[in-house]
Amino acid sequence: METIIIKINNQEQDLELLEKAGKVLQDGGLVAFPTETVYGIGANALDPKAIVKIYEAKGRPSDNPLIVHIAKEADLEKYVTSVSPAARKLIEAFWPGPLTLVFEKQDCIPMETSGRLSTVAIRMPAHEIARKIIELSGVPVAAPSANVSGRPSPTQAKHVIEDLSGRVDMIVDGGDAEIGLESTVLDVTGHIPMILRPGGVTKEMLEAIVGEVEIDPAILNHQEVKVHLTPKAPGMKYKHYAPKGKMTVVVGDEDKVREFISTNAMKSLEAGRRVGIIATAHHIEFFEAALKDKNVMIQNIGREHHAKEIASNLFKVLRLMDEHKMEEIYTFDFSTEHIGMATMNRLMKAAGNNVVNVNE
Ligand code: TXA
Ligand code: MG
Repeated sequence: METIIIKINNQEQDLELLEKAGKVLQDGGLVAFPTETVYGIGANALDPKAIVKIYEAKGRPSDNPLIVHIAKEADLEKYVTSVSPAARKLIEAFWPGPLTLVFEKQDCIPMETSGRLSTVAIRMPAHEIARKIIELSGVPVAAPSANVSGRPSPTQAKHVIEDLSGRVDMIVDGGDAEIGLESTVLDVTGHIPMILRPGGVTKEMLEAIVGEVEIDPAILNHQEVKVHLTPKAPGMKYKHYAPKGKMTVVVGDEDKVREFISTNAMKSLEAGRRVGIIATAHHIEFFEAALKDKNVMIQNIGREHHAKEIASNLFKVLRLMDEHKMEEIYTFDFSTEHIGMATMNRLMKAAGNNVVNVNE
């Protein structure tokens, strides 16, 4: 399939291009487009044939449900059976934005979209280009992240082109995704809302609006997931976001972590392997000095304590590791404050929970 790539600089001037994207969706095609979280690969959520194409293009397991994206709040009622007062308050506070809500679904949402669940996940994105395309398509748009299944989610159009060129009808380039991590997924079907996937809207932010919020226990303790607990969001059980190299998260006292990483990086180098290091700005000079003139890729993920900056760079850095064919990747762990919880959730998954604690 030939993929048309269009670049949107200015929404008003480029309206015709956006109309084309909307038309492709309306006609049952696939369009990748930017959102404020990550790029998505969209199709008409009401058309099973179009939805099947998404699963094929991504190589995604068919039991993993899709998020339905809408352009205006009034559309919600068409797809869900009821909206609780708590859900209403959350919508008022966080839509449009990086919060996906899980409701009981209406029959018009096909099983292909909901992964055979009785529920459906709905989100109204804040990104103007995303909302415009959805509005112009005239249909609700199911859109998972626009990566091949298992790879880091795309935060730039070039990531989408790498993964999906030839597999989708159109890719809309609208610049970098600002947040860089996927939306928070919150189940509002029960008595107490439950976070199924952490994201840009944090537990504290949700609790400020509706009081108590739970977190799916299966996503908290990564060791336990393998043994007992199955996450409630089907997508959270798969290995995900992983770069191709073997990744190790090194935790413990800062000095010991530095020591461990530089010593092991040297060993790996001597064994002829390609090595990458991921650290905050604050550690970069240390590694540049410790590994001077060595062929090690040292990646700055952002400033220490700047949780948003670190979150927005994570997937880009993971993809860079692949681009440079790194075989071994060492990374610090990062603060779990605010969006940091989502960052660490993705980082641990990317590393397949491979953690070394240098204090032990
Ligand atoms: O930020 C985002 O949410 C991006 C952009 C494109 O909007 N989309 C995204 O979609 O991350 P995806 O398909 O990569 O992840 C959707 C997650 C998966 O973990 C899936 O299992 C979960 O949401 N999910 C979807 N519908 C669900 C449902 N009815 N119940 C529980 N989990 C659900
Ligand atoms: Mg995804």
